[in-house]
Amino acid sequence: MTALPRQTLRIGFVGTGFIARFHLQSLIGVRNVEVTGVYSRKAENRERFAEAVRELELGICRPHGSLDHLLSAGDVDAIWILSPNYTRLEVMRTLHAEIKAGRSQVFAVACEKPLARTVAEAREMLHLAQDAGLNHGYLENQVFCTPVLRGKEIIWRRAALTTGRPYLARAAEEHSGPHEPWFWQGDKQGGGVLSDMMCHSVEVARHLLTAPGAARNSLKVKAVNGTVANLKWTRPAYADQLRQRYGNEVDYRNRPSEDFARATVTLEDEEGRELMIEATTSWAYVGAGLRIQLELLGPEYALEYNSLGTGLKIFLSRAVKGSEGEDLVEKQNAEQGLMPVLEDETGVYGYTDENRHMVECFRKGVKPLETFEDGLAVVEILMGLYRSAEIGATLHFPAPELETYVPLVARTGV
Ligand SMILES: NC(=O)c1ccc[n+]([C@@H]2O[C@H](COP(=O)([O-])OP(=O)(O)OC[C@H]3O[C@@H](n4cnc5c(N)ncnc54)[C@H](OP(=O)(O)O)[C@@H]3O)[C@@H](O)[C@H]2O)c1
Repeated sequence: MTALPRQTLRIGFVGTGFIARFHLQSLIGVRNVEVTGVYSRKAENRERFAEAVRELELGICRPHGSLDHLLSAGDVDAIWILSPNYTRLEVMRTLHAEIKAGRSQVFAVACEKPLARTVAEAREMLHLAQDAGLNHGYLENQVFCTPVLRGKEIIWRRAALTTGRPYLARAAEEHSGPHEPWFWQGDKQGGGVLSDMMCHSVEVARHLLTAPGAARNSLKVKAVNGTVANLKWTRPAYADQLRQRYGNEVDYRNRPSEDFARATVTLEDEEGRELMIEATTSWAYVGAGLRIQLELLGPEYALEYNSLGTGLKIFLSRAVKGSEGEDLVEKQNAEQGLMPVLEDETGVYGYTDENRHMVECFRKGVKPLETFEDGLAVVEILMGLYRSAEIGATLHFPAPELETYVPLVARTGV
């Protein structure tokens, strides 16, 4: 039995890629935490990550060449699962087995979005966490974005209280396409942009519409309507570009996943009032970089946020030459002209507050704001949207057919 609260939570990372670097960087803004272990299949990756932990003075991080070693190390309290979507279940099954066999003292787990590729997988993730007695957190950073935290607090305290609850949330997340081949492969990732990015949009929109402190089931999903499309990356020149960049396994001439998705989600609140989420996501947006747009509308008020409308802008003339980078904004597309700059990406995108929240909840044995139950509910909505797009009709909830549903682009052999 683990005695809580712990003074310091000792984290073990599974994965050392793009998002692991974001999480690590954000932890310099989190108290009562150390990073004591990392598992990666490649020695150079885990050594580099352990060195970065040392440089940031976030603890003595031991690199592990096997997941079992990390989980049974004895100096790790919680696991952050930051590996690709197709590895989730493998990691959770191993964690479950190690705990059940009495070889692991790990008592909490946090998992990046989306929780799983299908409802069946997400249900198993939740079951494994519960059966192993783990406290579990679902890592949806947009819920913790600083404009979302501040905006939601003001709207609900000042406007909704006096004039009535919000009824419409709009969310969009768009960029020019992911950075690793597995994201583009429907079976590995679970779908295309709908699976990859709509998970953010539906959850942040639902969160904005939910009264502060109210349970997830205070809003019920009544129906979903989705559209998917291939706007850019199936064009022959762009499909060939993907193949050159990532090899034959990414074949958008013959096996594309959607690069655009649109959703409407109809919800009902506790008093039977209709609420609406409108969301769009795309891998076909070429602007300065990643663009997140959020709106929350009610009878006498409106919230609006655009991640590229930054206070800090830098102009670089055509005489300024340099290598390509992502040093101004995530998924940056240019190095000249008038460029928006996010001076604190880990803070504004929500990673710092997300990790602070998870660390404090795990340390004290408190249920986090976002759990695997929320991750499962998100996957149910995503699968409903894929099914709706496939049949060309609105899907009404509850929809038992989603229990075994696999999106068209994720079915192998299709
Ligand atoms: N919240 C967000 O906005 C956001 C943004 C990006 C990604 N994500 C999510 O974060 C997760 C990782 O994405 P990423 O962009 O970081 O991917 P990535 O850059 O491809 O990194 C994946 C990492 O996982 C490791 N890995 C690969 N196969 C593995 C396996 N079988 N078992 C254990 N580890 C394995 C790789 O390291 P080795 O090769 O060294 O083992 C690599 O360090 C995904 O679920 C993604 O959806 C979230």
